Amino acid sequence: MIPFMDLETQYQAIQPEIDAAIFNVIHSYKFINGPEVAKFEGNFAAAQDLKYMLGLASGTAALHLAYEVLGLKPGDEVIVPTMTFIATAEALKQVGAKPVFADIDPVSYNIDCNSLKKLLTKKTKAVVIVHLHGNPCEMEPVVNFCRVNDLKLIEDCAQAHLAEYKGRKVGTFGDVATFSFYPGKNLGAYGDAGALGTNNEALYEKAKLLANHGREEKYIHRTEGYNYRLDTLQAAILDVKLRYLPRWTDQRINIAKKYRSLLNHLPITLPEMNPDKKHVYHIYAVATERRDKLSATLKAHKIAFGIHYPLSLHLQPAYSYLKYKPGDLPISERLSNQFLSLPMYAELAEIEIEKICRAISSVY
Ligand SMILES: Cc1ncc(COP(=O)(O)O)c(C=O)c1O
Repeated sequence: MIPFMDLETQYQAIQPEIDAAIFNVIHSYKFINGPEVAKFEGNFAAAQDLKYMLGLASGTAALHLAYEVLGLKPGDEVIVPTMTFIATAEALKQVGAKPVFADIDPVSYNIDCNSLKKLLTKKTKAVVIVHLHGNPCEMEPVVNFCRVNDLKLIEDCAQAHLAEYKGRKVGTFGDVATFSFYPGKNLGAYGDAGALGTNNEALYEKAKLLANHGREEKYIHRTEGYNYRLDTLQAAILDVKLRYLPRWTDQRINIAKKYRSLLNHLPITLPEMNPDKKHVYHIYAVATERRDKLSATLKAHKIAFGIHYPLSLHLQPAYSYLKYKPGDLPISERLSNQFLSLPMYAELAEIEIEKICRAISSVY
């Protein structure tokens, strides 16, 4: 069996450091806001070239706080790509704002920048972009659109730790960046965790206050907030893993190169390769019209795979109240029927990549 990801092998390689980090937190008994939290926040801020980083309970909590500190309110409209995990749009519910779904670009799979103008109304207040699969979104058109129309820009970097656009880290282009450390992410915790990053001190301070019950001192609360704190244990684990992230990212990039060299001749679409972008391959999705046949073949060869995502958000039951119809956002709808994500993790061996590619080749 070749798994889709292999957290066990990853753990075995760094077990002494992880175990020591966990042991130290347990024996410090500082499970909430222990010193490991600030240490990880500082190290991750530096890794992402952001001035301020706030560790949080999840990527979804980070999105909610981003929307709140940017002042989004009931009745506001926010443009969101329809091809993403639901959290990107779902967190808007917490501030009462309405998602307006945008189609995606057929090559990068990120928000279709050409569609932004026609989605703009008097109620539009912000644009959220998602660096989908770890592939950076083309930033100039989005940044310009937001500047000209006085809109806030949020970068959902849940899948794109250390990714770069034109040599600049993702998350540094918008007002606020959000990250997820869901266990399977390129930088994954041993449970739920996330972060909010920004270069804007005022936004950071607001988010920090809200994430910890609006408290200024232990029992003095300036405002009502939330319990969105990053767990000390998760911070300690993440700080160990962060040291390995550049190497693991290079390994993912090398695996992607190997996939490309073995699959390039087949009639399937491979992820975008763009010299302006450092794609970090959280997901290695191929697109094929013969997905049923390909998935049956992979199953027969005991090769695990994923589908990210099988139904675009605008057609999800959760958004039926917005009254979108099939055909409204056709590129995303087509790709949701064609995407198939191959195994991708730093420890994936060359011989396994070859086996996967032989199985895929046998379909064509
Ligand atoms: C694009 C995207 N946004 C947001 C999230 C939500 O993050 P979390 O699961 O940490 O809440 C995820 C992943 O889970 C994601 O892939």
